[in-house]
Amino acid sequence: MRTQVAIIGAGPAGLTLGRLLEREGIEAVILEARSRDYVEHRIRAGVLEQGTVDLLTDAGVGDRMHREGLVHHGIELRFDGVGHRIPLSDLAGGRVIVIYGQTEVVKDLIAARLETGAPLRFEVEDVSVHDVDGDTPSVRFRHDGADHELHCDVIAGCDGFHGVCRQAMPQDRLQVFQREWPFAWLGILAEAPPSSDELIYTRHERGFALASLRSPELARLYIQCRPDDDLEDWPDERIWEELRTRFATREEGWTLNEGPVLDRLIAPMRSFVAEPMQHGRLFLAGDAAHIVPPTGAKGLNLAIADVRVLAEALVDSYRRGDRAGLDAYSDTCLRRVWRAQHFSWWMTTMLHVADDDPFGAQLMRSQLEYVVNSEAAATTLAENYVGLPFARTGAYSRG
Ligand code: APR
Ligand code: PHB
Repeated sequence: MRTQVAIIGAGPAGLTLGRLLEREGIEAVILEARSRDYVEHRIRAGVLEQGTVDLLTDAGVGDRMHREGLVHHGIELRFDGVGHRIPLSDLAGGRVIVIYGQTEVVKDLIAARLETGAPLRFEVEDVSVHDVDGDTPSVRFRHDGADHELHCDVIAGCDGFHGVCRQAMPQDRLQVFQREWPFAWLGILAEAPPSSDELIYTRHERGFALASLRSPELARLYIQCRPDDDLEDWPDERIWEELRTRFATREEGWTLNEGPVLDRLIAPMRSFVAEPMQHGRLFLAGDAAHIVPPTGAKGLNLAIADVRVLAEALVDSYRRGDRAGLDAYSDTCLRRVWRAQHFSWWMTTMLHVADDDPFGAQLMRSQLEYVVNSEAAATTLAENYVGLPFARTGAYSRG
């Protein structure tokens, strides 16, 4: 078997890369360890930056997103029982965010790929990458009981945090930067109309909580919990009680809508970057190279930003023999990655409550007050939240 680009992983990174390359006439084969059903039902985040929306639209996979996605122009920061609206679009040059589940993005990309018949194999096993240092890399895997070897020009490691591609990088060249957070998120999907038109990020002395949504009938709620908590520790009544407490407002007039819990999970929080993101003919993209805590809603958007850089670089290389983009891939992506790391760290620190840190808690309350009272500080939040514009030669530009 031979192709131009072997893509490992059919998450948002791998599927979007496949789509962008297909539109440019570059062949790719996508290999995914899980079943189609599994990847289409994993519930993940749901905030798309303006740049992500534009890219999916240009790639011809934005129809349902435009029909069903909810356009938001602001978010609320709530603390000390008072809400403050941050008018994202006013502060960030009219840019918006769109609420549309990552799961839905994945479904749309899979449907588009199956429609054109471009190669996408689910349930592949024992994937390994070979000879990335030379000119003839390959990927070996098992599928339907048979062993295969896929020869290619380039391997795109889009296989998430637990994949094999990062492990295939020379470990003595790889520099890892990471931070484990002393808290986790308990997330629920509830059959209840969202309690607010916009997302609410709240800081309460008992911890952080977030009210998001998936549709006018489905609320998505998160609550700061301990990293070693189990779902059994959180019966429905405890979840709702805690959400009511953390979102409570000083003035009357706001209530939390409740309903049956359709899905629940506990997600650990991690900040992680592996550098460089490229070695020889192996290029890492998305969660394979970096993880952010979800507070800034950047994970999916960063994955899409990486593959946009990679797709452009591959087009330059195939069309014009210009390898400059590929050579700069890691540096280009890492500039945006570190900006998002900083923003995610900043939002996480500002909104969560750590044990035994009363000094830190006072600092963060002061910072929240500053963000909601200073247009300069609110603008910093807004332009990072909606996503800094892309530039062809860099990770972002001033637009
Ligand atoms: N072989 C083939 N596929 C693999 C392998 C492997 N050895 N290991 C993992 N995979 C698949 C996973 O099953 C998954 O479908 O790679 C895919 C990686 O997808 P994601 O984890 O969704 O990562 P990515 O595409 O980079 O998207 C990043 O996902 O985790 C969220 O918050 C994160 O929103 C961000 C986004
Ligand atoms: C979500 O809707 O799942 C969501 C929204 C905002 C975040 C994280 C997750 O910061």
